[in-house]
Amino acid sequence: MCGIVGYVGYRQAAEVLMEGLKRLEYRGYDSAGIALVDNGRLSLTKRQGELDVLRGVMPRSEARTGIGHTRWATCGRPSDRNAHPFMSCDGKLAIVHNGIIENYAALRGRLESNGHRFTSETDTEVIVHLLEDHYKGDLRQALADSIKEIEGTYAIAAIRDGGQEIAAARKENPMVIGLGVKENFLASDVTALLSYTNKVLYIMDGETLSITPSEVKVFNAEGVPVEREPAVVTWSAEDAQKGGFEHFMLKEIFEGPNAMHNTLLGALDMIENGEVLPRIDFRSVKLVACGSSFHAAMVGKYVMEEFASLPTTLELASEYRYSPGARETPLVILITQSGETADTLAAAREARRRGCRTLAVTNVVGSTITREVDEVLYTKAGPEIGVAATKTFLAQMLAMYLLAIRIGYAKGNLSHDSMRSALSSLRQSSNMVQSVLNRMHEIEEASKMIDSAEHCFFIGRNINYPTMLEGALKLKEISYIHAEGFAAGELKHGPLALLDSTTPVIATAIKGDPTYEKMLANVSEVAARDSPVLGIGLEGDTELARLCERVIYVPKVKPVYSPIPVTVALQILAYHVAKRRNCSIDKPKNLAKSVTVE
Ligand code: AGP
Repeated sequence: MCGIVGYVGYRQAAEVLMEGLKRLEYRGYDSAGIALVDNGRLSLTKRQGELDVLRGVMPRSEARTGIGHTRWATCGRPSDRNAHPFMSCDGKLAIVHNGIIENYAALRGRLESNGHRFTSETDTEVIVHLLEDHYKGDLRQALADSIKEIEGTYAIAAIRDGGQEIAAARKENPMVIGLGVKENFLASDVTALLSYTNKVLYIMDGETLSITPSEVKVFNAEGVPVEREPAVVTWSAEDAQKGGFEHFMLKEIFEGPNAMHNTLLGALDMIENGEVLPRIDFRSVKLVACGSSFHAAMVGKYVMEEFASLPTTLELASEYRYSPGARETPLVILITQSGETADTLAAAREARRRGCRTLAVTNVVGSTITREVDEVLYTKAGPEIGVAATKTFLAQMLAMYLLAIRIGYAKGNLSHDSMRSALSSLRQSSNMVQSVLNRMHEIEEASKMIDSAEHCFFIGRNINYPTMLEGALKLKEISYIHAEGFAAGELKHGPLALLDSTTPVIATAIKGDPTYEKMLANVSEVAARDSPVLGIGLEGDTELARLCERVIYVPKVKPVYSPIPVTVALQILAYHVAKRRNCSIDKPKNLAKSVTVE
């Protein structure tokens, strides 16, 4: 997820663009850049690092037209040359882009063979070279012709030397136009515009635009002009950063479907054609992580054994260095969304010292972990601002399934058909998440039974044992309720002593899972101690409802994939309990988004 801005008018474009990028930094902040039409010529300034680095090197400029970009790297590590904007070979065109170009490799090959010289490792750069090929004087038309060759998602803004015009195109990434007097603005969201105007045009998928100081022309995918009434934004700039959501955490829960879709998009080819783990020369796997990422690792253990029949062990990153370590060198997979967690970095170095092959699953391109391992599989959840992991956790679980399927197929444990069937189920993961989001209100209502608790149990079995540990972590870290997750089979070995009518128990029982009947027995066991039970089960499960005070239903999925919808329900539950308890949801006390101390 990146942020793009554009300006044409009477003000100093550089200032307007920098102000807009500042407002969009939450969308990505590993590099930034601006292109200006300065005395008729294109000038381009871009730097790795936060916006202040760019501000420090921006030349003074009287330019009145320009585009800008703040980046969250998904293809090509953060660097000056991979920062946007990108310029055509002839220096007459420049573009910025938010999105993913899936067919960039083929396009780049063709463009290079036609003499185009590329300066970056990014997918985006193919756009400006396509534009150069198609440009015959009409910038918008050239962009409309260029996007016909692109497979993927985009919000693109383009400028040309000597012109007071921005051309733009949008598909599955946000774009909004700010309407002024003798000036007009373009941005990824209204946050970047509200300092100047609250009159906006929301752009739809497939539309292209030509924007000048006096006119904004919108065209549909067929090139037919579109008339659209402007909207008036009533949000504050702060609200707009959260896209109208009250907290980043809720916004990021709602970004779950996109996080799954983009992660799958980014990884599917690599998994299917063996780009990931090209050599399967290990006989076991060790999963190493912290916090929520460790819970994703726990799910990984189940699916590694399910799909790959591979002996799989788990280690908390902070404990790994103390473990004696077997003579055998497993593949060590380190899971860290930030790629900067000190314990996990230390574990990566220890694994290499022990002679193990290492693979990192991370959400941040170019993060430190990527330099400490042999291979990287990126999740593509986009930046996560809320301290509590939500969409990145879903993406990490997805990465576990994908790696397990990859290894299982490569080892012959999964037939081609079984692999295809498993991948087809995972393609439904965005829909699984969305269908739980659609039940937000029901979950909000059901969660009220937790509000006044001091203590709360989360219990599950099998692949949903880690799900319940994660649910407990979510609740405790943002609502400060003492929430603990247990393997349900462990209750009778001690924790049952703590239960009474003041301690609600959240129990996940998935029909079709071999542990379903036992979970019903656990629920009865708990209810017999007067503890109120909030059940989580598959829609239509009346047996579970009979035993519970309330039930949150998730869509019917194969039990092996049930951690995905169950996790989303638990994220929503934790959010609403914390909200009603007036907690600091995005910045919980004592916690940091990235724990860079051991
Ligand atoms: C989870 O909500 C927390 N934010 C925390 O447990 C986090 O998962 C842990 O610190 C690991 O972070 P990482 O994935 O960036 O390594």
